[in-house]
Amino acid sequence: MRVVIQENYEKMCKWAADYIAAKINAHSEDRPFVLGLPTGSSPIGVYRELVKKNQAGELSFANVVTFNMDEYLGLPHEHDQSYWYFMHDNLFDHLTDMKPENINILNGMTDDPEAECAAYEAKIASYGGIDLFMGGIGVDGHLAFNEPFTSLSSRTGLRALTTDTRIVNSRFFGNDPEKVPAYALSVGIGTVTDSKEVLVLINGHNKARALAATVQGGVSQQWTCSALQLHNAAIIACDEAACGELTVDAYKYFLDIEKEERL
Ligand code: GLP
Repeated sequence: MRVVIQENYEKMCKWAADYIAAKINAHSEDRPFVLGLPTGSSPIGVYRELVKKNQAGELSFANVVTFNMDEYLGLPHEHDQSYWYFMHDNLFDHLTDMKPENINILNGMTDDPEAECAAYEAKIASYGGIDLFMGGIGVDGHLAFNEPFTSLSSRTGLRALTTDTRIVNSRFFGNDPEKVPAYALSVGIGTVTDSKEVLVLINGHNKARALAATVQGGVSQQWTCSALQLHNAAIIACDEAACGELTVDAYKYFLDIEKEERL
């Protein structure tokens, strides 16, 4: 697993956006580039950079199909905390050439979550899988909404959110955990690790424990992000602040092996 440590959040986002843009630009036009996308505060700077590149004419989304990681159950599109709203507000509405029909987000208002999730998996498969899945993680290491002890081979499905996650995410819901939906639809860990490449953003002091568990702990369903250790093309882009719980030797190793990448 590659761990690319950048000095700060801005540099981490620039690095990740450059990486994604290079992959999209290098992709053959015969078939669409299939990009998995996360929500949360971590990717906001990456989306800002991707929008800049797109508006400057350096990056086209005309041949890009996106699949989002997750969506709260019971929030309509127009709810300002739905992930549908977030994605349009932070990315899609600002792109010059994104085709609305190429945007895929789980429908949190479905009355048949099982069918919704099965159709999502089938649609991903119909494109031949995901080329690059960008992700973020929660402080408890959840990848998408795969909370601790979710199976590492899980597929897209309904997930119950832990009290901890509802408390953490309550900052977007007037600081009231009760207002955070109790359930979400989410791709599975297996859905993410089936992607050809995975790029996970981990930034800030509050993610230091999760980064250490992802990289230096064993593969464990307690830290669902640790499944990335078994992927042959997984990259973690992180900032210095998130490195506080890595051992010094691991930290030095990543800086050394990735020194060309520290732009
Ligand atoms: C939510 C999302 C996750 C995301 C996490 C971290 O729980 N479902 O996909 O990774 O938030 O968010 P943040 O980047 O704001 O720390």
